[in-house]
Amino acid sequence: MTTLIKKIEQLKKERNAVILSHNYQLPEIQDIADFRGDSLELSRIAAKVDAKIIIFCGVHFMAETASILCPNKRIIMPDINAGCPMANMITAQDLRELKERHPKAVVVGYVNTSAEVKAELDICCTSTNAVAVVNSLIKKDEIIFVPDKYLADYVSKKTGKVLIAWDGYCPTHVKIMPEDIIRTIRVHPDAVVLVHPECRPDVISLADEALSTGRMAKFVKESKASEFIIGTEVGLIYRLSKDNPGKRFFAASELALCPNMKRTTLEKVLWSLEELKQQVKVPDEIRKKAKKAIDKMMEIT
Ligand code: 13P
Ligand code: SF4
Repeated sequence: MTTLIKKIEQLKKERNAVILSHNYQLPEIQDIADFRGDSLELSRIAAKVDAKIIIFCGVHFMAETASILCPNKRIIMPDINAGCPMANMITAQDLRELKERHPKAVVVGYVNTSAEVKAELDICCTSTNAVAVVNSLIKKDEIIFVPDKYLADYVSKKTGKVLIAWDGYCPTHVKIMPEDIIRTIRVHPDAVVLVHPECRPDVISLADEALSTGRMAKFVKESKASEFIIGTEVGLIYRLSKDNPGKRFFAASELALCPNMKRTTLEKVLWSLEELKQQVKVPDEIRKKAKKAIDKMMEIT
């Protein structure tokens, strides 16, 4: 164990802190984390763990979600500038204007949104439960879905519902092209192809399954197959390889790297434990409204 890791472990105990890591974090961050997971899993863990301090290794909207769910815990980001470009593609004002144009519509928002945008939603969703959430909206003629147009397209195809989609997308997942999938299948013809629903529709149509990162981890563990082509941010492959030593994983594209997810380093984790700065705290007025949308999602899943 390096001195840096020893210091992190020791300070974590002294502070009674818990380290959460998203599945796209650097290997060394995943290794020191108490829990790894996708957006939904990390929110649930944050709300459940018996710790006053949470060191959140992920991007800003994820830490905000934790703050919304547990306002009495201190949610600290090792690098508070780790944002999500897709979440930044829509503001609360943008959404208010869209709602004015569709006053009867029910508003569904991906968890990859700011707390201010969540406060404008009727219901939140993650990539794990987006289909179930939209399916639950029976008798709703108009449904707004923000901000990811590709997730909206995927959900629309799965549910048969027309969605009024915002023009957002993930700059990392759009780097995965259909030709990447075709080329990788040619080299590994027996591999199962798993992609994230944030991928382009022409990529999703070539895959065996479109799954959130948490669901991919579960799928791989339970699958009898031994080779997988992974169409999502490349950081997930570290977790999959570690959890499944007998299985082989191939990135659909090495270009699918989220620079914001890689901003968190071991040094920054140590500093965050030492200084307890860079706290993410959602103001109460916004928090209460945003929580309603998250609670509704939790009721469904
Ligand atoms: P997951 O919830 O599937 O981990 O996705 C989060 C994300 O940001 C995907 O780009
Ligand atoms: Fe946002 Fe895409 Fe990075 Fe996920 S991979 S955090 S959606 S930019």
